[in-house]
Amino acid sequence: MSDDKKQLWGGRFTAPPDATFAEFNDSFRFDQRLFAADVTASIAHANGLRRAKVISNDEADKIVAALRLLLDEATKNADYFATENAEDVHSFIEAKLIEKIGDAGRKLHTGRSRNDQVATAFRLWCRDEIDAIIELIRLVEGSLLALAKRHEDAVIPAYTHLQRAQPVLFAHWCLAYFEMFERDVERFLQARGRVNVKPLGSGAVAGTGFPIDRLAVAQELGFDAVSQNSLDGVSDRDFTVDICSAASLLMVHLSRLAEDMILYASSEFKFIELSDAVSSGSSLMPQKKNPDALELLRGKAGRVFGNNFSLLTMLKGLPLAYNKDMQEDKEAVFDTIDTVGISLRAAAMILDNTSLNENAARTAAATGFLNATDLADYLVEKGVPFRSAHEAVGRAVLFSIEKGCELNELALDDLKQFSDVIAEDVFVRLSLASSLRARSAIGGTSPERVREALAAAHSKLKG
Ligand code: ARG
Repeated sequence: MSDDKKQLWGGRFTAPPDATFAEFNDSFRFDQRLFAADVTASIAHANGLRRAKVISNDEADKIVAALRLLLDEATKNADYFATENAEDVHSFIEAKLIEKIGDAGRKLHTGRSRNDQVATAFRLWCRDEIDAIIELIRLVEGSLLALAKRHEDAVIPAYTHLQRAQPVLFAHWCLAYFEMFERDVERFLQARGRVNVKPLGSGAVAGTGFPIDRLAVAQELGFDAVSQNSLDGVSDRDFTVDICSAASLLMVHLSRLAEDMILYASSEFKFIELSDAVSSGSSLMPQKKNPDALELLRGKAGRVFGNNFSLLTMLKGLPLAYNKDMQEDKEAVFDTIDTVGISLRAAAMILDNTSLNENAARTAAATGFLNATDLADYLVEKGVPFRSAHEAVGRAVLFSIEKGCELNELALDDLKQFSDVIAEDVFVRLSLASSLRARSAIGGTSPERVREALAAAHSKLKG
């Protein structure tokens, strides 16, 4: 087939396409990834034609057997696509089929168009890829929970404005990302619901002209529903944006995780130790251990956002129904899926290769007045209005800064000058353990709440 490329539209034309046009127009070099999905959809279409008695049982059998053989050949032969010169994967498959079974193969395209064909194959492909992405998100979630488990009682400072704010359990930090990834799973599942609708049977634009039972074909392919309007069926690419926007938010979350870890791995923080397996050195500075894997995780977000934006721009203002612009949807989605896939695998591997320096994190959580809010809350419990308590503690912090010590290192008499309700029991309240214990409302960092949240997360992963 490489020499005499067979076009699907020969009859109307007297001259071959210009070589530059062919290069510009052909999508085979990238849409060959849809091969298995397109063959699968073609088998179901052949069965649909058979049931509608548009083709004979014998012809349908021949087509189905030959299509299965193609699948088999492609799996066994690594160069199956390499030597071929086709316009797109659809014409490639049809040509291969006709090569094998002649006229019966020429009947497969009855009652369908490449417009409903490509939309169907692409949706099938996307459905499987979404399932694979969800699996990988689960993998990252599992790694986060394992990391939390390795450092069950560890404490880190929580930050606002990247300034030390209040102590939290390290597991609470892990679970924050778990929550984000749970929403990502939810978004991919929602996208999957809208992906899993079958356009086949929309024909080129007006609907198929043959009495094919669209629902039966949908069932064979595992689609939940069939599209309800042929114009929309062939031109709806919303699902590609659904996927790429779910992917964009997922990359936002991965990049935030990466950024936290890059900071925590720096000498300024020294909270986490990345293993050599995920770090690289400098060609010039012998002492360096760089968090390249994390930086890539942070950096890959950009191309995924870009793909999402390309799709929106490509679709904006397109007249109904199919337009060739839509061929551009493939590479944007392929690159998104590839990028998200490797990013998730990298994230899981990095988390598995991370350990917390519990002492450094605890020291940071215990210094810098992270218990100032606890002192204010203590005053409130003793009847001081919060605003006045805030003011008094602010002055106490200033006093401590001048003395060069922490609030809990002040003498009781020193503390009493800021409020006469302060008594000996204040020191217990200013401890790290008490500060954590006090945050026991739902969603807080108290050890009890975090234990429950970890258990809930584990059962979500299992369920
Ligand atoms: N390669 C095309 C695509 O990806 C297939 C559909 C072609 N349809 C057409 N009417 N030219 O969109």
